[in-house]
Amino acid sequence: MMKVKMFNLLVLITFLIFLPRVNAANIGMYLKSAHGNATYGVNRNSMSGYSIGNCDHCHEMHASQNGVEPTPQNGSPSPFALFAPNFNTAKTTNPYTLSDNYCFYCHSTTTDGSVQVGGIDNHNFSYTFGGYTSSSVTGIYQMFNQASYHNLYDLHQFALGNAGSTTLPFSTFYKQQSNPCDTCHNPHIVRANKRNVSDPTYTPLSKPSDHNNLWGDDANETLAALTNAYQPPYYYGSTTTFEPDGAADTPSNQAAKMPDYITYCTDCHNTVNKIYSTTLGRELYEIDWFSDDGDKHGFRVADSDVGVGDTNTASLKRPYNGSPIANANGAGFVVSCMDCHEAHGSKHAYLIREEVNGKVMESIVNDYNLSELCRKCHMDDEAAYGRASGRNKWRYVHHRAPDAPYHGGGCGPCHGRFGGTGPDSCIKCHFHGGTDKVLGTMATKRRTF
Ligand code: HEC
Ligand code: HEC
Ligand code: HEC
Ligand code: HEC
Ligand code: HEC
Ligand code: HEC
Ligand code: HEC
Ligand code: HEC
Repeated sequence: MMKVKMFNLLVLITFLIFLPRVNAANIGMYLKSAHGNATYGVNRNSMSGYSIGNCDHCHEMHASQNGVEPTPQNGSPSPFALFAPNFNTAKTTNPYTLSDNYCFYCHSTTTDGSVQVGGIDNHNFSYTFGGYTSSSVTGIYQMFNQASYHNLYDLHQFALGNAGSTTLPFSTFYKQQSNPCDTCHNPHIVRANKRNVSDPTYTPLSKPSDHNNLWGDDANETLAALTNAYQPPYYYGSTTTFEPDGAADTPSNQAAKMPDYITYCTDCHNTVNKIYSTTLGRELYEIDWFSDDGDKHGFRVADSDVGVGDTNTASLKRPYNGSPIANANGAGFVVSCMDCHEAHGSKHAYLIREEVNGKVMESIVNDYNLSELCRKCHMDDEAAYGRASGRNKWRYVHHRAPDAPYHGGGCGPCHGRFGGTGPDSCIKCHFHGGTDKVLGTMATKRRTF
């Protein structure tokens, strides 16, 4: 055992000489990281003799180790002495292959070709923190090859300052040769949250504005610290237990178990950065989660009173509506990005989760079928009237609820104008920052998201 450790140390020291940017503090964090872990850390199958967690599983100091180049064979030396190039910048959209991104080489299943001994199973948020263990993806590589995903090329351009990132200090750590995954993660300090889902000190995240530190590991970086109006969604299949670990604890105790994903995502998605999406072929909507003019799912309070016990006027389903869950500050809930979105990709559009508030999407969510998502937390006519025929119909919230926006008048000016009555029209009004201005003179100008 001792021998192995000595060897590890020697390699570290050699590295420090060759690559002086990793300092002592980082080494301490590395040893606590998922990659540096001596039991389950990095362990490439072509590197027998190297201890688990050794830097060399990722960095090849010379073109070869022990006289041969271990797989994957890559010929020329790579930037940062990695065993393969970081990112293929010619790949502007998915599908990706393993060689398009360095991390995929390990973060894939054995069947997909992982070079980590045994491959690595990583699951999406719906599975790991939502409890939906039937989710369809079992690796990061698979996640990025779905219908929607964080486009790696766009992240690369954004981080290089070529696409509207004005607020973030990317230039202090991100280079032409860098890996787009590293905009959100720091591979030298990432920790294994999947093994400790109740403990955010095991966060895998680093904010782009603070790349050299973890995000979520301090109490003031959890959802509990950000807002006392956060209500965690139900855990899959349950109406008594909550994310992220399926415990039946108070909202604030559950929130304290999660990194503050809102601050994390809005490090990039805010009202200042102009973010371009090659996938969507346009600039993204601004996300304003914090101001009084912002989104109602954010800190702006919903117009209708959807607070405690308000069973008549609210269109919300439990746990957002009625006892026993008290809205902590009585002023309106704040929803977290991860309550609706995945981080890496999804079979649904816009990275929408496979499972939301304890229930699975029964059909694919896209521009023509957004209501499948809304139904998880809001009352459709089935829930409002208790009739199966009202399933995924939305007359109650638009025409009948006490605060409904649309009353009287002819039906034609609205119905039939947006691709007909029915779910296909939702996204015309409901999107981040949206209003119903598409109605022109008939618009209420109410904020619709
Ligand atoms: C936009 C930010 C973002 C990008 C880009 C990103 N990640 Fe993540 N990643 C996250 C977040 C947030 C989580 C935690 C929530 C979760 O597990 O879904 C996470 C979790 C993970 C996990 C742990 C999953 C588990 O099993 O719990 C791994 C592994 C990972 N990311 C690898 C990658 C790799 C590899 C890439 C690039 C191909 C990448 N990430 C790109 C945000 C990002
Ligand atoms: C999981 C793979 C992995 C492991 C393990 C790993 N590194 Fe790295 N390292 C990377 C990647 C990827 C980069 C390139 C960062 C980027 O995208 O800009 C990098 C970059 C570096 C750099 C260049 C400066 C920087 O931070 O960008 C140094 C120095 C370094 N690593 C040292 C080490 C040392 C020392 C160890 C062991 C204590 C280690 N690495 C372990 C993946 C790894
Ligand atoms: C040499 C193989 C290897 C490479 C290359 C590699 N990883 Fe990992 N990674 C691992 C292993 C092993 C774990 C721990 C898995 C476990 O907990 O069982 C891990 C864990 C993680 C985690 C912690 C999440 C969790 O809960 O498991 C993140 C985040 C992560 N890796 C991101 C990255 C990123 C980003 C890159 C590319 C810059 C990368 N990894 C490259 C092997 C690798
Ligand atoms: C209540 C569910 C919900 C929550 C919470 C949520 N989103 Fe969304 N998000 C959606 C839906 C639905 C869409 C598709 C409509 C649209 O594009 O705005 C979307 C789209 C997006 C888009 C693409 C925007 C575009 O230009 O089409 C981004 C970026 C995004 N969300 C980021 C975030 C961030 C960051 C947060 C947290 C601050 C967040 N979302 C919270 C439901 C949600
Ligand atoms: C994860 C649960 C969740 C999902 C999914 C969700 N919402 Fe919400 N929504 C809420 C909560 C909670 C509030 C109340 C916010 C507050 O208290 O300020 C809300 C408020 C709203 C409001 C403001 C109502 C008012 O009276 O001002 C609208 C409009 C709305 N949601 C539309 C939608 C649409 C459309 C969808 C589907 C695309 C959707 N929501 C999906 C949880 C959700
Ligand atoms: C490092 C900056 C960065 C962070 C952090 C980040 N994003 Fe993004 N996001 C981007 C960029 C760049 C794009 C445009 C490329 C694309 O469309 O995939 C994007 C696109 C998106 C889209 C639209 C993708 C599509 O094709 O529909 C959604 C949804 C989204 N992000 C959600 C999130 C959520 C949720 C988080 C927090 C877990 C987050 N983002 C964190 C940079 C970031
Ligand atoms: C100012 C716009 C507007 C006017 C005028 C209007 N509606 Fe609606 N109505 C909506 C919207 C928006 C929805 C929800 C989206 C949808 O279901 O298409 C809706 C939904 C409905 C639904 C539920 C349909 C479903 O499948 O979900 C019925 C039924 C309905 N309206 C009937 C009427 C009738 C009857 C009239 C005329 C007396 C009328 N509406 C006038 C905007 C309007
Ligand atoms: C023509 C614009 C328009 C369309 C299309 C539309 N809505 Fe709405 N919707 C509104 C307006 C306006 C409100 C009221 C917002 C408020 O409460 O201030 C609303 C309210 C809601 C709410 C109520 C939130 C609450 O708790 O009060 C939900 C849920 C909702 N819509 C879902 C849908 C769904 C699902 C569809 C597609 C089937 C849809 N909407 C189509 C304009 C629209």
